[in-house]
Amino acid sequence: TADEPVILTETDGRVGVITLNRPKALNALNEATMNAVVEAAEAFDMDPEVGAILLLGSPKAFAAGADIKEMKDRTFTQMYASDWFQAWERLGRVRTPVVAAVTGYALGGGCELAMMADVLIAGPGTRFGQPEIQLGVIPGMGGSQRLTRSVGKAKAMDMVLTGRQVDGEEAERIGLVSRLVEDEKVQDEAREVAQKIASFSKPSAQMAKEAVAAAFETTLQQGIVHERRIFHSLFATADQKEGMGAFAEKRKPEWEQA
Ligand code: CAA
Repeated sequence: TADEPVILTETDGRVGVITLNRPKALNALNEATMNAVVEAAEAFDMDPEVGAILLLGSPKAFAAGADIKEMKDRTFTQMYASDWFQAWERLGRVRTPVVAAVTGYALGGGCELAMMADVLIAGPGTRFGQPEIQLGVIPGMGGSQRLTRSVGKAKAMDMVLTGRQVDGEEAERIGLVSRLVEDEKVQDEAREVAQKIASFSKPSAQMAKEAVAAAFETTLQQGIVHERRIFHSLFATADQKEGMGAFAEKRKPEWEQA
């Protein structure tokens, strides 16, 4: 109903959890949901007590796309003037690792939101697709770019030009999915992955994400120099001394998060 919150947020230990909460609309991503997800992710990003963000949908749908009913009567000028979907770029700038548990439909904007996550857990029953061509449009939240970078031209063209859905097994085979587990275990596995990431030093996890993400933005040589500079800079942290010191002393590190 209209007064139910479009997302739910909680913290579970050092994991910040964002749950899409429009199950009856298959978590269609309307403007309110977009703004809520982005703001919650930014707040978790700035919270030193949060070391990873977990993004959850519902069993039937991670998200069935942008909200078609909300968009259908908009004009070009309205879409352009508001720079529709631009807010999602803020999610891409979140530095804390994001883990997505992708169950059921991940279509259109739902597939694109899943691809904004850093680690993507899915099951055989997950359905990824970019069906926008069937609506007379194209992906608008980065799908043509992120899909092509993660699965290559052959599969991206197939999905974007025909709207064909790929199941979790194919999605894992083509490189869209980090881990494939049984459908009922997707959320638990994703939570464990988020907890694992959050158990490390946040500065090193953030910089590890930054380094991998740089591979999508730059040349190999620039990326390697960038990585090495980040590696060097971590020697300014207490947690580098703690992590390497603990190894040498044969004990478990106790991260200071600094
Ligand atoms: N936007 C708005 N409402 C949506 C929606 C969407 N993307 N997807 C589902 N819903 C709504 C349905 O309208 C329906 O609402 P009512 O109960 O009020 O009729 C409710 O969710 C349940 O959906 P269905 O009855 O259709 O469920 P189903 O099991 O029969 O079918 C489905 C499931 C195949 C996913 C089907 O809902 C569907 O095709 N959805 C649209 C998928 C799509 O085209 N996504 C792309 C959107 S455009 C986009 O995302 C642009 C971009 O790049 C960001």
